[in-house]
Amino acid sequence: MSAGLSRCAVPTSIHCDHLIQAVDGASSDLQRSIVSNKEVFDFLESAARKYGIEFWKPGSGIIHQIVLENYAAPGMLMYLPFLTAFARTKYSHTPNAGGLGLLAIGVGGADAVDAMTGTPWELKAPHVVGIHLTGQLSGWATPKDLILHLAGKLTVRGGTGRILEYFGPGVTAQSCTGLATVANMGAEVGATTSTFPYTKNMCAYLHATGRGAVARAADAAAEKGLLSADEGAEYDEVIEINLSDLEPMINGPFTPDLATPLSKFGALVQESGWKDELSASLIGSCTNSSYEDLTRVAEIAKQAQSAGLATKVPFLCTPGSEQIRATMERDGITSTLQDVGVVVLANACGPCIGQWKREDSKGEENGTYYSNNKINFKSRNDGNRYTMNFLASPTIVTAMAFSGKLTFNPMTDTISLPNGQLFKFTPPSGQDLPTKGFAMGNTDYYPSPVPEPQPGTQPFWTPESKGTRTSTLKVLMRVRGKCTTDHISAAGPWLKYKGHLTNISENLLMTAINDEGGDMNVAFDHDHDSSQSRSDTIPNVAKRLKARNQPWALIVDENYGEGSAREHAALQPRFYGCAVIVARSFARIHEANLKKQGILPLWFIDKADYSRIGSGDVVETFGLGDLVNGNGEEVVKLRVTNSRGEFFEILTRHTMSSDQVKWLKAGSALNFIRSQIA
Ligand code: F3S
Repeated sequence: MSAGLSRCAVPTSIHCDHLIQAVDGASSDLQRSIVSNKEVFDFLESAARKYGIEFWKPGSGIIHQIVLENYAAPGMLMYLPFLTAFARTKYSHTPNAGGLGLLAIGVGGADAVDAMTGTPWELKAPHVVGIHLTGQLSGWATPKDLILHLAGKLTVRGGTGRILEYFGPGVTAQSCTGLATVANMGAEVGATTSTFPYTKNMCAYLHATGRGAVARAADAAAEKGLLSADEGAEYDEVIEINLSDLEPMINGPFTPDLATPLSKFGALVQESGWKDELSASLIGSCTNSSYEDLTRVAEIAKQAQSAGLATKVPFLCTPGSEQIRATMERDGITSTLQDVGVVVLANACGPCIGQWKREDSKGEENGTYYSNNKINFKSRNDGNRYTMNFLASPTIVTAMAFSGKLTFNPMTDTISLPNGQLFKFTPPSGQDLPTKGFAMGNTDYYPSPVPEPQPGTQPFWTPESKGTRTSTLKVLMRVRGKCTTDHISAAGPWLKYKGHLTNISENLLMTAINDEGGDMNVAFDHDHDSSQSRSDTIPNVAKRLKARNQPWALIVDENYGEGSAREHAALQPRFYGCAVIVARSFARIHEANLKKQGILPLWFIDKADYSRIGSGDVVETFGLGDLVNGNGEEVVKLRVTNSRGEFFEILTRHTMSSDQVKWLKAGSALNFIRSQIA
């Protein structure tokens, strides 16, 4: 709409997966959420109709699962509009589709606009890291443990600017959906994407999901030597992993790269003084709700049930799509899970996006839970920063639910039964694909492919305002340490305001730590008048600066903006008048989002300079004018004047391409696109 086009330039789809709150089960949760988010869903549906966009309504499933089941194809370069004509996928976990042997690169919503408007999209050419897989997974180890292990090795920054290409004999034995899990969580090490050579299991998955023609085309291409690495391909780096050495991993708390093998986890719990008590278990989501995952989980549930056990803690399961939900119901998986106390939620992100209404919330004593999701940042799932959260495979998460303990190791430990006997699980095997094929479920959830636009439709919309820029800025604050997009724009209850920038901006940086004082959600207003206090919440101080028409800068630490691609994390600071963010380093997608929204990301050349700038300092930029006029250097000099009137200079560098500079000049990428179309 903002671009002034009458239809999308490429086939596009909308997926309503974030706003379904998990309370007491699929049916009532879905109905309640449809009513409470009616305005948002109506807007999306009417916009889809007007512009000929496929609309996957609330309850149809999670975008990444739907993309894998319906749109992804081997060899595809997903996202690049001039090659593949797909704008279907946004969000950082897009690489999930890589399970089908393609390059699926996650982008933010603002980048998706490039595809939808037919604008070229650019990405700095990544390095390629080869991950050589040998051996085979056995016992309790699953593909999830492979990526949890790799996350521990690479850390959340280790994949930045890199594509992870898996190769070797260990790849072919994995199911397509197992590889999707590995690719999905590649985003957690910052990788641009992850990919695999085409395998027989991918072919089988394509047939099982009704895409025989795509499978035959992929087979023909593979026979010509395509869809796999070239003979003798060289990588920028090779990482060796012997799958036979892998054991289940537990990652966390609060970051996905803190990896501990299960056999050592009990000792870690004791050393750390954590209470050996589990509060909840969560399975499913876009990461681990494949048929294989669910049959494994059901096998564990059956073993436990035959021994007379039920789950000891609340246990939630989120199916990734209507197809998965219907298939698990038809094949008796749902009833098996429900018999042991599992609550099956709506086909949506649910707790993974913070839509978890925990009835047992206990403030600072909120306990610990296991999930097979991919993100475990503080406050992510239940909005409580005291909750400890660990990532593990769905099978481990399930076994833990029957023990009720953090330290339970199903490979070695037993559970006492009421009759005094001891029960021990045997490793589950699971089934890659359903023998009877996938069930479609409720066909109302499936949109008609590439519908014709209905220009007469009148969607609700809010015009965007254009901002002004100046090169004299006030520093709002210096953010300490990890600052993910969840810290910048929290999810959970805030998601209902996604269409209301003023409302959602009230959560700006509310869980970020101010490096000056170490407090959360505290900022200082150095120009306060006598009626105001100097210290206030971060959004309130940002609002004060906006009210004074004072553009501001933010000083941030390493990997700023990691996590979800959430474009509101860039929109909100821009809304309050942020013009520049200076970081020790940025996460790739978030840096692109900032540029799209007209905020200039700058990198400290000397990272020690981070500590030299503080709140209230005045920053002037030198070289920015030249940059905006298209003849700037990579280096942007900052002249900083502190509250004592002392000044000093700091060197930073920008990463703006000449096209991106045009967005800065226009105030945002959309402003620029619109000016070109008008
Ligand atoms: Fe996937 Fe939704 Fe979580 S897209 S990562 S289940 S928020």
